[in-house]
Amino acid sequence: MKIAPFLLERWMTRHETHVQFDIAESGILPLSTNDLLAFEPPDQRAAVLERLLNIPLGYSEACGTHALRSQLAATYTRGDADHILVTTGAIEANYLLYNVLLEPGDHVIAPYPAYQQLYEVPRAIGCDVSLWHVGPETGYRYDVAALEAMITPKTKLIVVNTPHNPTGAMLSPSEAARVYALAASVGAAVIGDEAYRWLDVPGGEPFAGPMFDRGPLGISVGTLSKPFGLPGLRIGWIAANRDIVEKCWGLRDYITLSPGKLNDALAQLGLKHRDVIVARNTRIIEANLKVAAAWIAERPYLSWTPPRGGLLALIKYDRQIPSLELADRLAEEQSVMLAPGSAFGYENHLRLGIGQRPDIFAEGLRRAALILDAL
Ligand SMILES: Cc1ncc(COP(=O)(O)O)c(C=O)c1O
Repeated sequence: MKIAPFLLERWMTRHETHVQFDIAESGILPLSTNDLLAFEPPDQRAAVLERLLNIPLGYSEACGTHALRSQLAATYTRGDADHILVTTGAIEANYLLYNVLLEPGDHVIAPYPAYQQLYEVPRAIGCDVSLWHVGPETGYRYDVAALEAMITPKTKLIVVNTPHNPTGAMLSPSEAARVYALAASVGAAVIGDEAYRWLDVPGGEPFAGPMFDRGPLGISVGTLSKPFGLPGLRIGWIAANRDIVEKCWGLRDYITLSPGKLNDALAQLGLKHRDVIVARNTRIIEANLKVAAAWIAERPYLSWTPPRGGLLALIKYDRQIPSLELADRLAEEQSVMLAPGSAFGYENHLRLGIGQRPDIFAEGLRRAALILDAL
């Protein structure tokens, strides 16, 4: 397969190991194993730790343990553990789904800008990919009428990502229902990349329910990376009808085979404490959103649409410097990471992530201003 470079990943790997103020990060501040243990009642922590330490590190159940799949299935209104395939992050989930569902020449509709995988993998498969714009030109909104105009009887798959990376756009519950109905009218499947599920903006609009819950053509992709701050576990999942789960499982036999056993166990612990983790996330999002809004408001050359959900937004800057050059200068001169808009096809923008520890976030913005204000 010939595939274009994943621009954001290539750029991140140049800086992420040595910058001090990473405010480009796409997830919420990561948790440690000790943090997870601390969510257990004090008198049970030692026993939980002992159980983790004694897990034999053999191969795990190929599609994820029944215990983990049951926990994940319980987050949907239909289906059971057999409708879930645990994957190596949402990235593997998407990759498997595209390869199982698509043939060269199929028509696919995917969001743009986007997490590049969402449109690049179908392109590499040889599909005819129509881009559904959700950037500044539509005011960071999914325009469902535009989707309707793009759908043809040949449309095989529609991909949505809500809340959206990199804009924080969201489908409302009624828009999500309309997307499903439009897909169903031509028999197309809909993948909901729900990597930012459970990451509500305090006081914001309600999230649309998962795509899988809408019916047999609906597929949900989830992950512990963004909402749980556990990207190092590399645990994601697919919720889909059993034939799709089985085909993805069959393909995965040739790639990563099964999730890591310890990671599966830690994922169970994370899911068990979802409410506490979500409350912690809300505090981080609330604090950082306030600081970011004030920082942007003080600078007339900056503008943005704050995220409606999730952790990400594009900031527009009215200065004559390419975003890649600017992002490299921020990293090299101020140890600040803000992702270049060019990695998403949008010059004069930087992507901000609001999931960082609030003191690091505020200092990152302060240092970024030292360069930006002087341009
Ligand atoms: C929209 C979206 N989908 C999927 C992923 C992959 O996440 P992971 O493989 O860590 O679960 C990301 C990561 O940034 C993302 O933003």
